[in-house]
Amino acid sequence: SRSLTVLGLETSCDETAAAVVRLDPDGRAEVLSSIVASQHEAHRPFGGVVPEIAARSHVERIDAIAARALTEAGVGPEALDGVAATAGPGLIGGVMVGLSFAKAFALARGLPLVAVNHLEGHAVSARLTAPAPYPFLLLLVSGGHCQLLSVEGVGLCKRLGSTLDDAAGEAFDKIAKTLGLPYPGGPELERLARGGDAARFTLPRMLAGHKGCDFSFSGLKTAAARLAETCETDQDRADLAAAVQAAIAAQLAERTSVAMRSFAQAHEARLFVVAGGVAANALVRERLKATADQHGFTFLAPPLAYCTDNAAMIALAGAERLALGMTSGLDAAARPRWPL
Ligand code: KG4
Ligand code: ZN
Repeated sequence: SRSLTVLGLETSCDETAAAVVRLDPDGRAEVLSSIVASQHEAHRPFGGVVPEIAARSHVERIDAIAARALTEAGVGPEALDGVAATAGPGLIGGVMVGLSFAKAFALARGLPLVAVNHLEGHAVSARLTAPAPYPFLLLLVSGGHCQLLSVEGVGLCKRLGSTLDDAAGEAFDKIAKTLGLPYPGGPELERLARGGDAARFTLPRMLAGHKGCDFSFSGLKTAAARLAETCETDQDRADLAAAVQAAIAAQLAERTSVAMRSFAQAHEARLFVVAGGVAANALVRERLKATADQHGFTFLAPPLAYCTDNAAMIALAGAERLALGMTSGLDAAARPRWPL
């Protein structure tokens, strides 16, 4: 066995991303380049991602972004061992752009193609910069996803629970919008919450005491929207933001605690990884770290750049599959929905 160098492409939401990652035979990864071109500015006037604008933007930018990833990595196409692209789940127009680009690239260069599940990308993101041996418990918290997974090997994820309604990031974004904050609201809400007193408002504790690992944020969203209408001063809004952030962090920690108990019954390993954009939130991290400490789990969170959507995680997931001969045909489907 030898090391594998893979070009990865990510276009499932509003980031056009390309990266080159090298995977050594011992399982260690090295990110040779990772380019992320965000479209936030294009979507901000609409208060959320507009799928058609996203797809058009991907089609205009993907060639240049991929070329830049290769240039920055100092790797010519002839040095690549494969090309990996997100094939879902996500906004289908965007997924089709990245996957079709990857197919054309693979065909032109005679390279194997790996169609990657975006969630599997998030699942391996911690392995980009630190040893994270399988199996581990994963909390994936992003704008589109909120799930607890037992990650047991390449392509082997078991879902322990997921959200019954909104994803945690979606809840952050929607509540931020009712507080008058611009899109994407998660980081804005965190900033506003800094000067707030979380104890000022009582919010519903969704699924509190629930025995499973599922999440629900819709009740919180409704309650917060009602309270937002009563806010008059900046202090009121900061207090509400702090209360919302505390409620979301508490639910994530509580469900993770349940998942740790069941993971510990099935495995010797005690590694907990949090990934996805919401892992950028300091209070969320703090609460999850405390939960991990409580249960004797090692806490691992990828660097921020690999928490939010990026192509390095897709390249790595592709490389791990490629190493096992798990490649895809040029007829690989683009899937708007693709549960792990
Ligand atoms: O992983 P990601 O970049 O994209 C998806 O796959 O969804 O996650 C983006 C989500 C958005 O909902 C954003 O508001 C949220 O992560 N987010 C945050 C913070 N930074 C990003 N939420 C709360 N606090 C933050 N600091
Ligand atoms: Zn994502």
